[in-house]
Amino acid sequence: MNTPRPAPDRSAAPGPVGEAAVGEAAALVSCAGVAHTYGSGRTAVVAVHDVSCRVLPTTRVAITGPSGSGKSTLLHLMAGLETVTAGVLSWPGLNGHPLAHPGRVGIVFQGPSMLPALDALENVEFPLLLAGIPDHRARELARGAMHRLGITDLAGQLPQELSAGQAQRVAVARALAGGPVLILADEPTGQLDHHAAAHVVDALLQAADEFGAALLIFTHDPVIAARLPQRWTMADGRLLGPALNPMATAEPARTGGRP
Ligand SMILES: Nc1ncnc2c1ncn2[C@@H]1O[C@H](COP(=O)(O)OP(=O)(O)OP(=O)(O)O)[C@@H](O)[C@H]1O
Ligand SMILES: [Mg+2]
Repeated sequence: MNTPRPAPDRSAAPGPVGEAAVGEAAALVSCAGVAHTYGSGRTAVVAVHDVSCRVLPTTRVAITGPSGSGKSTLLHLMAGLETVTAGVLSWPGLNGHPLAHPGRVGIVFQGPSMLPALDALENVEFPLLLAGIPDHRARELARGAMHRLGITDLAGQLPQELSAGQAQRVAVARALAGGPVLILADEPTGQLDHHAAAHVVDALLQAADEFGAALLIFTHDPVIAARLPQRWTMADGRLLGPALNPMATAEPARTGGRP
């Protein structure tokens, strides 16, 4: 299926100061020399090291890299769920920390993340209620998001009644329900066959275009990565690359340069 691509946004690419300044002002996430170390002393694990990049509303990027290369840690940092242990991470385009703006960042977690006592529809609407959206509107948005993923028939199922692939699609619906401006998806198709995976990527790309949201898909799967116009790579905690295709419009900032 073809999904319309966003118009190229040259402000994201490193370039003359004027262009970089435009990119910085619009950046939803700005990382400058960001690092995260788990633990300390002899057991310390440097999961993310010296990462510099900007995420713009037009960013549509697949972040690939081997297991343990730091993808999920970087996602959690960008979502404000982990704190940096070095460097500076900010969210200029969000006007502050993501946790202060519930609903503006849609996250698909790598592992199971459903609340077991709630059915699928209630799981999708739960973050909306937490964000203060009135009940009837939250239900409407949740149903709309499930429709977007083609899973309205799963509404009344409890998490333990869902297959891993069904649960994954519910998790994607939950991430999209609030109309986020930043979508961070960690292996969102890991449990799906090719057909279902393609549908999920379509839904993510379409939602990103509709909401004017940045979309970052962290994935092992080269077929999924190929669907995104931009490609970043992680290795040993570092953001490398970019391995960009001709449509690419954003790339990690050069180390030591402007974030
Ligand atoms: N909570 C934690 N405590 C200690 N170390 C951790 C923790 N979470 C991750 N790590 C370590 O940090 C490194 C990066 O892990 P991370 O989960 O970010 O990698 P990943 O690229 O997402 O891997 P995968 O592709 O398997 O999901 C690994 O060495 C991992 O063992
Ligand atoms: Mg991971």
